[in-house]
Amino acid sequence: MMTLKTKLTYSIIFVFGHVALAQNYEAKVDSLMKLMTLQEKIGQTVMYSGSWDQTGPIVGTDNAKYIREGNMGAMLNAFTVKGTYDLQKVAVEETRLGIPLLFGYDVIHGHRTIFPINLGMAASWDLKMIEESSRISAEEASAEGLHWTFSPMVDIARDPRWGRISEGSGEDVYLASQIAKAYVKGYQGDDLSKHNTILACAKHFVGYGAAQAGRDYHTVNMGEGELRNVYLPPFKAAVDAGVETFMSAFNELNGVPTSGNKFTLRDILQEEWGFKGFVVSDYTSINEMILHGFAKDSTDAARIGMNAGVDMDMMGSVYRKHLKELVEEGKVDEAIVNDACRRILLAKFKLGLFDDPYRYIDEKREAETKYKPEFLSKAREIAAASSVLLQNKNNVLPLSKETKSIAFIGPLVKDEYDILGNWAAKGDRKGKAVSVFEGVLEYLKPNQIMYAKGCDILKDDESGFSEAITISKKADVIVLVMGEGHHMSGEAASRTNLKIPGIQPKLIQKIREANPDKKIILVLMNGRPINLSDEVNLVDAILEVWFPGTMGGAATADILFGAYNPSGKLTVTFPRNVGQVPIYYNMKNTGRPIPDNNPTEDYKSNYIDSPNSPLFVFGHGLSYTTFKYADFTLSSHTLSFSDTLKASVVVSNTGGFDGYEVVQLYIHDKVGSVTRPVKELKGFQKIFLKKGESKTVTFILTAEDLKFYNSEMNYTVEHGEFEIAIAPSSDFKFKNSFILE
Ligand code: BGC
Repeated sequence: MMTLKTKLTYSIIFVFGHVALAQNYEAKVDSLMKLMTLQEKIGQTVMYSGSWDQTGPIVGTDNAKYIREGNMGAMLNAFTVKGTYDLQKVAVEETRLGIPLLFGYDVIHGHRTIFPINLGMAASWDLKMIEESSRISAEEASAEGLHWTFSPMVDIARDPRWGRISEGSGEDVYLASQIAKAYVKGYQGDDLSKHNTILACAKHFVGYGAAQAGRDYHTVNMGEGELRNVYLPPFKAAVDAGVETFMSAFNELNGVPTSGNKFTLRDILQEEWGFKGFVVSDYTSINEMILHGFAKDSTDAARIGMNAGVDMDMMGSVYRKHLKELVEEGKVDEAIVNDACRRILLAKFKLGLFDDPYRYIDEKREAETKYKPEFLSKAREIAAASSVLLQNKNNVLPLSKETKSIAFIGPLVKDEYDILGNWAAKGDRKGKAVSVFEGVLEYLKPNQIMYAKGCDILKDDESGFSEAITISKKADVIVLVMGEGHHMSGEAASRTNLKIPGIQPKLIQKIREANPDKKIILVLMNGRPINLSDEVNLVDAILEVWFPGTMGGAATADILFGAYNPSGKLTVTFPRNVGQVPIYYNMKNTGRPIPDNNPTEDYKSNYIDSPNSPLFVFGHGLSYTTFKYADFTLSSHTLSFSDTLKASVVVSNTGGFDGYEVVQLYIHDKVGSVTRPVKELKGFQKIFLKKGESKTVTFILTAEDLKFYNSEMNYTVEHGEFEIAIAPSSDFKFKNSFILE
């Protein structure tokens, strides 16, 4: 697509700017910056949206004008070869220095080929698969001109009311940190200068998942210990994996908005962690500091944001409008603007955009890369691995392909829209996404299938109930496909009610009443933990498929008919009711825990109207086979600071199917200078066992794995007793321990 004239003009500018002579990226950036005016440097810190998508308030921008003036360095929501070419050409050919634009987009769980929502993918506990998903996302996104994704979201989330719980990896620090690394590796690959790799972005820095009452954008208050022990580690893991960019968040943290928070952005991210990449604000989050009551006006917001370490202003216009005057007045040191510009230019150099600004722009590659058959089959495999079998009374699943007649009922049976979930980038829905109905047609003949929608997800029109009940009575087995709409989770989608929405629960009830003895299977699509307290009693099996993506219906059918033996396990606790929220497995104990032998004892830390325990615990997920754990062994009952400890267990497949099992290692630091969680995941392995097969699974622990931030905020490990267990979920009692000497 790049013309000879463009190529020549481009290289002339840079050869004569001495950039081509520079030895390394830093030196190249420095050479280039010597040629830049302050206004041009500020231009690099400005990002605006193309008109492809809108993910926040509509802000009028005049993109071509800003690019031409050198007042814009990056764009979001602009992609496709044609679209990015037209814009890049303006930047490269019509500006004084020809600095290429950076194109970013929310490629969150796939670009065209959509994988399950991130909370779903986390349930696979399969780091390799997650990395493969982000590799494919990068292939597809980069083939459409994109250089950068605003992913992964590594916010720990423990409140299912918060809609964005769907975008993260769940409640656990260790697991979310491993997953953060996998995403970064997949997106960025091993060499950013390759045309199929893109910049990753760890977001939203930081604490966003702890929004009060699960309401999006809401206030966050937490002690530094919790911040460091729970919310920061996945971000640190992303830095360790080489993530090139960070996004600051919308929320305030202990009174200081995170887009103006020097403590987190400069002290922790830059100083402690040595992060060399750049930080982009969230969408207008710098301006929002005015409404937070932290900045007087937009000039003040620009001053605070830049000084705090937000290098790029997404959609806020405040850097473009006010930074120059702030520097001239001495309110922002020019060195800070230089640093921001340097970081952004460095990313552009690493991507190879200064060698060829059109290197991501290739019509042939664009056409060949979308929805490659191998991407679709990977999406099917990942969707199957991400599904969690929550309940399977009397082994009603898998179903036989010979079943005479199955009634498929519910608003999501034929859905090709919600199935992709929220933040589904450019995934095509109708006509491309495989519905559950289409999926089961691979296993059943049309005459074995009956279908009724029954009702909508949210409307309260019951006129479809009678048809649904009629077919349910004629069928041998009933499969309900129900859940949330895709817009019910994600950004600005907090809920106060965690039930399956609308009149779907009523339809389930009616179908059970009409069929007291029939097998009923509930396939659930949703973006958060749902309160299933009624449904566990009404149906026999519950298969949580989340929003499973483009191939979701095919993968669901694979599980329903036993071609895939479910192996997903929850990475987030499912409460009994919303009143238990927040509820997560690695909570702290109290001084009055409930005694095992008397759960209702007075003056204990309990509820008078509900058990403390959740409905489904972290780590829970059934298989069509059964696994036995035996012969737990520790290599020693003591561990020194320089030593390693081996913990092993023999896992046997004792059931009738081959299958995967996620084997989990937990510890409990019994006494600390600050209290420690009752259980902490410290390792896991996903193993495959054939029927009758056994394997010894071994974990190696060192003192390093036992570290935490103490009350002086030192990252340390303390002598004493640690309980340890290897288990199939977080629901177990410790029986073994060792001493850290
Ligand atoms: C979201 C970010 C997203 C950005 C750009 C914001 O509203 O909070 O997660 O990356 O929009 O679309």
